[in-house]
Amino acid sequence: METERPPFETLVQPFGAEAIVAAAALIAQGQCVAVPTETVYGLAADATDGKAVAGIYAAKGRPSFNPLIVHVPDVAAAERIAEFNDVARGLAARYWPGPLTLVLPLRAESGVASLVTAGLPTIALRVPAHPAMQALLAACGKPLAAPSANASGSISPTSAAHALKSLGGRIPLIIDAGPTSVGLESTIIAVAADGALRLLRPGPVDLGIALAMPGTIEAPGQLASHYAPAKPLRLNATSAEHDEWLIGFGAVRGDDTLSAGGDLTEAAANLFNALHEADASARPCIAIAPIPETGVGVAINDRLKRAAA
Ligand code: TXA
Ligand code: MG
Repeated sequence: METERPPFETLVQPFGAEAIVAAAALIAQGQCVAVPTETVYGLAADATDGKAVAGIYAAKGRPSFNPLIVHVPDVAAAERIAEFNDVARGLAARYWPGPLTLVLPLRAESGVASLVTAGLPTIALRVPAHPAMQALLAACGKPLAAPSANASGSISPTSAAHALKSLGGRIPLIIDAGPTSVGLESTIIAVAADGALRLLRPGPVDLGIALAMPGTIEAPGQLASHYAPAKPLRLNATSAEHDEWLIGFGAVRGDDTLSAGGDLTEAAANLFNALHEADASARPCIAIAPIPETGVGVAINDRLKRAAA
């Protein structure tokens, strides 16, 4: 079974070349690091590494999986991950780098871990304006998933002290560049294939200006924000019925497994891929092994209960 994550001696290092080298090395090892953006401090991990992304949830103690924002250095990097139409290009040209997040169709070859989008066919992307996050993106050479750097249920951190108070002992490093200038999480706009815009989260970017863009805006929008399999899902299964595709865990072997060794972080990283594969299988029903209700297992079970409802 999964052992508890070792407590960290959380280091707070001032932003500079040394801190960025240290942070990039930790991220390359699959760790997460708190780093300032112009909006709030983010808890960043390699978006292409599912286990690293699962570590974000473990550190935050977040009891559910929500899709995360992926940070990239520039529009070219964003276009390798998502499909841009002219409306999306116009918004990116006007507001990036800056506190605007665009939700766009995910490209099949994006390389982003399915836990980042929580299995959705869309992805939230932004190019941050802060030199610390920009330096970290350059040093890592990877897109970085980063929700706000606070434990679940506490307020968003606008200083290194906030991040330390909330996540001290749970992450190895916080990069300190003083208080954030914007102090409010980015505006989120979804851009549909036909160019229609939906405001998903109000924020620092003035929507009056966005309205002048081609396309229409509906606010606040209702967008499918949770992936669920199309087939019926049975929980806590220890063996499969004849018409079921069984997703195993630990000692419960199935057609597939979230983690043969019973590792919850590995299970979280594999969850959405496993559900998509089960959906695509020839069998009409899905069953899944019991998942322990500890650590990141709480978020896995939350998602499974919603998918089974
Ligand atoms: O200012 C910010 O945006 C900060 C800094 C660190 O960049 N980041 C941030 O990330 O607030 P996060 O992960 O806490 O916010 C994610 C928000 C959630 O409300 C989520 O539902 C929405 O983005 N979101 C992400 N992907 C989505 C998608 N594919 N479709 C709809 N909503 C999505
Ligand atoms: Mg947040």
